[in-house]
Amino acid sequence: MTGPGGTVPTSPRAANSGRHAVVPQGTPVFDVRGLSKAFGPRALLDAADLQVWPGETLAIIGESGSGKSVFLKLLAGLLEPDAGSVWFKGQNIAEFDRAGISRMHREIGYVFQSDAMFDSMTVLDNVGYALREHTNQSDEEIRARATECITRVDLKVEDLEKYPAALSGGMRKRAALARAIAIKPEVVLYDEPTQGLDPQNITRIAEMIEELQHELPCTSVVVTHDMRTAFGVSNRIALLHEARFAVIGTPEELMRSTDPAVRAFIDDAMEELEELFEEGVLAART
Ligand SMILES: Nc1ncnc2c1ncn2[C@@H]1O[C@H](COP(=O)(O)OP(=O)(O)OP(=O)(O)O)[C@@H](O)[C@H]1O
Ligand SMILES: [Mg+2]
Repeated sequence: MTGPGGTVPTSPRAANSGRHAVVPQGTPVFDVRGLSKAFGPRALLDAADLQVWPGETLAIIGESGSGKSVFLKLLAGLLEPDAGSVWFKGQNIAEFDRAGISRMHREIGYVFQSDAMFDSMTVLDNVGYALREHTNQSDEEIRARATECITRVDLKVEDLEKYPAALSGGMRKRAALARAIAIKPEVVLYDEPTQGLDPQNITRIAEMIEELQHELPCTSVVVTHDMRTAFGVSNRIALLHEARFAVIGTPEELMRSTDPAVRAFIDDAMEELEELFEEGVLAART
């Protein structure tokens, strides 16, 4: 397999990834225009602009408390902006009625930072929730799809009968992922999908995000403070800094960036990121 620009990927992972720079084309999945949001006196977003293009995986990095989770909720229409707008596939979501919002949610899988599993429901009911909400599928069909999704994330069929409290942190993250993909969404929003996980789990979840992008297939937005995840899975990375998307570029462009805000993020993680270069994951996409 030959990568873009005629480069030959050097590692098995790179060869399998099939990832390449996504050329912006067509209507953006999300077009964020002049978006502002504050809680109290502090502006989290101040006239921020960002486009998410069909088929890409965009990672969003930024300091803790900078408003990354708030931004994802604004994208999904779960919070209202103070000013500006979010356009989903060419439509201003502020103009959607309830049915419009519901149709949009039918196309979006959301992995919340807190996992947000319903504790009073089994994993089966959690994973099947969106199917029950948005489709007319029978109990058998929902169980079949939930089984498919739970095994897809390397959990066991028996785990479907468990309650979230009985799952470890890593298992909860996987169950939350299974729940987000059950509906076969066109878009998946991930909020810190690898937070609190050990290195093996981080690598596995990052691989799953990458695999699902092709399998579903979907467009993904991944909010993460883990640089290995950000650089390992994405086509582009956006840095949320001082209420704007200060720098947006390919992983390679960010690696080379001299912007002090970018360097503050990357320099600490340089050793891990060099590993990605050695594996050929980053080089395969230049
Ligand atoms: N519903 C809300 N009401 C009031 N304040 C809020 C609300 N949601 C978020 N905030 C505040 O907005 C700020 C940004 O929160 P947010 O969760 O988006 O940060 P973050 O970048 O995701 O941080 P982290 O990396 O720690 O997850 C925080 O100070 C938070 O307390
Ligand atoms: Mg957050």
